[in-house]
Amino acid sequence: MGFCVAIDGPAGAGKSTIARLLSKELSFIYVDTGAMYRAIAYYYLRNGIDVSDEEKVIGKLDEIRVNIEYDEGVLQVILNGENVSGFIRTQEVGFATSTISKIPAVREKLLDLQRELAEKNNVVMDGRDIGTCVVPDAPVKIFLTASTLTRAERRWKELKERGIEADLSTIEEEIKARDEQDMNRKTAPLRQAEDAVLLDSSDMSIEEVVSEMKRIVGEKWR
Ligand code: DC
Repeated sequence: MGFCVAIDGPAGAGKSTIARLLSKELSFIYVDTGAMYRAIAYYYLRNGIDVSDEEKVIGKLDEIRVNIEYDEGVLQVILNGENVSGFIRTQEVGFATSTISKIPAVREKLLDLQRELAEKNNVVMDGRDIGTCVVPDAPVKIFLTASTLTRAERRWKELKERGIEADLSTIEEEIKARDEQDMNRKTAPLRQAEDAVLLDSSDMSIEEVVSEMKRIVGEKWR
């Protein structure tokens, strides 16, 4: 049985940046479960399938194979044999992902792979339901959050650095809509596990969050 650090939280709280850095420091592998869901959503978008048409989405699920690989320690998402890591980070894919991830059959498809990864390796795994559903007995559970405005500002800055001008209030509205959808779905909704440590990163730097997480992990992992 591997040691699992489960990090859950809303969109844009910095989970993947933090989880990646933390996994490096601990020499654990990083499993980005959001990226797996994103690859599935990307399949539908690319094939012109309406992601809100549940019946169609379920009907095409068997055509999809998602896997992850590591290239020099960096996680790569493989969709039907193709590395799609470079295509899944857009807002469009993000929202479509939130929509398809409400469907139980979609979640079921990824659950075994996620559990197997946590069983065979020491992992830092991030998502929405890791501590509540995927690895409920994870020895370390952290719920990482930040105010919606902070999350929107971070996203806005990230886009600006990539040369993309965006409207802050639109981003904030999109983040709120995604939170709403992730928290209110019936299957494995986003919520803090009872035994998770709540970490609000609104006024913390990335380094401070990583260091606090290392301290939390250090209480359980020696
Ligand atoms: O963490 P992210 O932004 O890459 O996740 C994209 C979407 O995937 C998110 O809005 C909800 C869904 N997701 C999920 O339902 N369960 C997970 N464990 C991870 C992501």
